Amino acid sequence: MSVGTTTAHDAGPLHVTGAARYTDDIPTPRGTLHLAFGLSTIAKGRITDIDLGPVRSADGVIDVLEARDLPHDNDVSPSNHDEPLLATGEIHYLGQPIFIVVAASHLAARKAARMAKIEYDEQTPLLTIEEAHAANSHFEDGPRIYTKGDADAQLQAATNRLSGSFEIGGQEHFYLEGHAALAVPQEGGDMVVHASSQHPTEIQHKVAEALGRPMNAVRVEVRRMGGGFGGKESQGNALCVACAVVAHKHGHPVKMRYDRDDDMIITGKRHEFRIDYDVGFDARGRITAVDFTQYARCGWAQDLSLPVADRAMLHADNAYNLDHARITSHRLKTNTQSNTAFRGFGGPQGIVGIERVMDHIAHQLGIDPLQVRRENFYASMSDKGAQTTPYGMEVTDSIIREMVDALEVSSDYQARRTAVAAWNDKNPVLKRGIALTPVKFGISFTLTHLNQAGALVHVYQDGSVHLNHGGTEMGQGLFTKVAQVAAESFGVPLSSVKITATDTGKVPNTSATAASSGSDLNGMAVLNACEEIKLRIGSSLSKGDVTFAGGNVHFDGKSLSFAEAASLAYQNRVSLSATGFYATPDVQWDRIKGHGRPFFYFAYGAAVTEVVIDTLTGENRILRADILHDCGKSLNPALDLGQIEGAYVQGAGWLTTEELVWDEKGRLTTHAPATYKIPVASDRPEVFNVSLWDGVNRAETVFKSKAVGEPPFMHGISAWLALSDAISSCGENYPDLDAPATAERVLMACQKLRA
Ligand code: MTE
Ligand code: MOS
Repeated sequence: MSVGTTTAHDAGPLHVTGAARYTDDIPTPRGTLHLAFGLSTIAKGRITDIDLGPVRSADGVIDVLEARDLPHDNDVSPSNHDEPLLATGEIHYLGQPIFIVVAASHLAARKAARMAKIEYDEQTPLLTIEEAHAANSHFEDGPRIYTKGDADAQLQAATNRLSGSFEIGGQEHFYLEGHAALAVPQEGGDMVVHASSQHPTEIQHKVAEALGRPMNAVRVEVRRMGGGFGGKESQGNALCVACAVVAHKHGHPVKMRYDRDDDMIITGKRHEFRIDYDVGFDARGRITAVDFTQYARCGWAQDLSLPVADRAMLHADNAYNLDHARITSHRLKTNTQSNTAFRGFGGPQGIVGIERVMDHIAHQLGIDPLQVRRENFYASMSDKGAQTTPYGMEVTDSIIREMVDALEVSSDYQARRTAVAAWNDKNPVLKRGIALTPVKFGISFTLTHLNQAGALVHVYQDGSVHLNHGGTEMGQGLFTKVAQVAAESFGVPLSSVKITATDTGKVPNTSATAASSGSDLNGMAVLNACEEIKLRIGSSLSKGDVTFAGGNVHFDGKSLSFAEAASLAYQNRVSLSATGFYATPDVQWDRIKGHGRPFFYFAYGAAVTEVVIDTLTGENRILRADILHDCGKSLNPALDLGQIEGAYVQGAGWLTTEELVWDEKGRLTTHAPATYKIPVASDRPEVFNVSLWDGVNRAETVFKSKAVGEPPFMHGISAWLALSDAISSCGENYPDLDAPATAERVLMACQKLRA
């Protein structure tokens, strides 16, 4: 058995010894040139004069390119053709690339990039959600609206009603490996690109456009990323295109990597949101109607903002059955970095909205928030009659009630809630808080055609297996999981399966490794290829049943080792190489109407977090977190636990310490770890109990597993609501608390309640 076993990440020893090769570690050929972008120093306006003389004459500089020097398309947008690689006179955000410096070294390129003399006709930038909304600066003509039932009438008729508004900050991806690319020119004008990208096919596509060549002239290879988290779905296009264009022009290999500050200043982040809510509910806390308005700050170009904002709407219900709901979404265009995918892809913002509503209702009614949540959960799969989401999809697989029941017991929630109240009665300064939040997360790309994957599997004469598929490895363990699938299918040990770099020349037309669907899609495609090879080997051996298990092939009462069977098949002139393909069934979705079945299934989970705050300083700490998470039948429990732990910490970081600050000029002032605080090992909860729910996926997924990459990110919401719970012991009102709940915000919220 390979699938379902606890196996270390295939590159674990390489990661911890420093031997793992990232794009920047690839030995560069002699004569490799290095790039840096010259960046705008204003957020909005026009270039009136540009003098690149000092850049050209700087040490080590070989060439400088502006927009007009680009041979073909000047565009790196993944969606809307609205993102020039180099500014064409108009400036849209502070940090926008204006020119490319080509130099003999990375340092020389960076130094020279700062020597340009550029004059601007500066205009007032639109930076905030409020400014953009007031100026009617939106992507798309009007807001998107999803409705179910009659929210207005039911709000009017509600016995209880409350409303509120709060802001949720963005988040820097802070992958440990920053963006990097290496382009190596080939004969006849072809190009090979090594990239740190979740989406090699997109890189291939954009590089081909920029060079004016067909896609078959460009091959992109990705062995691994040192983290992507959505930040490498589209934001690597610029580096790869720049490298390819310069490599083509100069006939030399060209490399580019962003230093951390540049990475943070240039690239997009998680979307900031403002969420307004108006909710009606009965005496038990059952929601009778809800009206959400979501405002998403998208930045200067469209990038993936529309599907991100869609997913926020699609998660406005989270795990709750809403009979009457309206969800309105504004996608605001601002003079800031172009916000992009980030773990959860808008889902977390949508879920934060309704989770705050649950707590607000409980506070108003003076009852336990868990009770309010239970009043509203979707019915379980065993209950009669499916309930539908606000977008008309039936929820037939809910296990949220069972999971929350189990977590309530295993985390000792009730006793600890009582203990927290007792502590708060006795302690005037240090206050504790506790919160339990559920997650229901939709699995599939909402752009339906992306739900496909390909694989290429070779079996060699000695029985060793060469594995390739369209997914990329960014630390999440996808390559290990998919290798387990191949080993399981052939009945061979995992060590027989060679994991190889993602390569557009081996498997074409791939989707980004995103939407948590890497193992669902690529695992199935690989299984399909392996099954095909097994069929061929089998039919060459026997007319009867042939089974592959324990490193052997069994047929007609005989058995051969897998290697002997492969060798025999080769001698019998049987093809031992196959492509595999998979397309997710049963998904269809109209994103304009907001109706259909965008998801193949849902992943579930729940978390309890307990915190303590110092009400005189705002300092705070997570004391304990308990998580129960649903991975279906886990392909690899160790990797899944790692994903859940990491996601929780990253989610809690987003809502507590990670604060992005722009000044009034639109300059990102938090562009390095000195000013932007991601969680470190010591911020991990002192007590951290994570378990997997024992179940299977009801949908036909690869070995009944469930996607795990993004869903547990939202367990971090329990940390934010636990802080809010602790603050609420300072006074009577429901606390005002925006995210991130930094120490300053916690302190201000306490002071406001006490005043
Ligand atoms: N885990 C690690 N270690 N590094 C990452 O960059 N990205 C997350 C998640 N887990 C990420 C990660 C995101 S945003 C997604 S969509 C999924 O992994 C992608 O991989 P999967 O589809 O194979 O789960
Ligand atoms: Mo993940 S945000 O879908 O790359």
